[in-house]
Amino acid sequence: MTSSAAEETISSLKTEALEQLSAASDEAALESWRVEFMGRKGRLTGILRNLGSLESDERRAAGAAANRLKGELESAFEEQVAAGKRSGASGAAPDAIDVTLPGRRPRHGRLHPSTQVIREMLDAFNEMGFQTVEGNEVELERYNFDMLNIPADHPARDMQDTIWINRERDSIDGGVLLRTQTSPMQPRTMEQQDPPVRIVSPGKCFRTEATDATHEWQFHQVEGLAVDEGLSFADLKGTLYEFARRLFGADRKVRFRCDFFPFVEPGVDMSVDWNGRWVEILGAGMVHPQVLRNVGYDPEKYTGFAFGVGPERVAMLKYGIEDIRHFFSNDLRFLSQF
Ligand code: PHE
Repeated sequence: MTSSAAEETISSLKTEALEQLSAASDEAALESWRVEFMGRKGRLTGILRNLGSLESDERRAAGAAANRLKGELESAFEEQVAAGKRSGASGAAPDAIDVTLPGRRPRHGRLHPSTQVIREMLDAFNEMGFQTVEGNEVELERYNFDMLNIPADHPARDMQDTIWINRERDSIDGGVLLRTQTSPMQPRTMEQQDPPVRIVSPGKCFRTEATDATHEWQFHQVEGLAVDEGLSFADLKGTLYEFARRLFGADRKVRFRCDFFPFVEPGVDMSVDWNGRWVEILGAGMVHPQVLRNVGYDPEKYTGFAFGVGPERVAMLKYGIEDIRHFFSNDLRFLSQF
């Protein structure tokens, strides 16, 4: 059977109609497709209407083809409408959801173990009267080092291999860096207020560390600072003992040892017993008189103590985590245990 001009029109209309239909993804597009092809003044109706002007043989063949097309387009249209309803507005494949599967409980998110431990630590210090303040991860050299009694060229800088953003020292602020410690919040807080000061400041710190089981190049610290008249080393120890009791229970042994930090004098670190091993979790000490002078406090009148705790270290002890690198490797098998 040779196809007539009318049948050719019908078949090219079919191609065009189906192509446009499959591109019609929302209700408005579907409706305008329906009007264009199937409506009372639509293109298919136009063809059906013109059949009368054809020779009878041709008319029979073309009429049958046009009616077949009408049926095909109607069911294709229904199918497209149903697919649109199934996938919603997202445009996802219609079979993306198998509605016959049994229901499953959606997975709940939760706080990162570091965040959980930080909050627990802040709770403990808040209840002892320390107020939480937050600082910036991008810090000025002046606050990260100079104000903390770590001048440029002082060998103590080598203790903290620094990730610099800008090393230029063209003003008193110095360069710009990712803070290596939360201690810059000590001078920043003291500059803003007079004693008494009692703050804790949590946040992320960064160093160019060769990573191993106890060292990461990014980690958190919780800084603490208290300045007032008559504060002594006994206040420091009492505060940190109470903190350790809160986090590890009354039975856990802790130990202080002398340590050096340029912004405290004397300086200590505190370790916690872990299966017969001492694990260091914080540095601390009495605020160095030079640091007090740097912010305009009178070291003859005021004394203070400061500490910096590593929450990842605390979490490792609390939960028996062997490797600090788990914290930031983003493995759900690890993270979902907390
Ligand atoms: N900032 C010190 C560090 O990162 C810790 C510290 C804080 C020590 C406060 C003393 C006082 O190692």
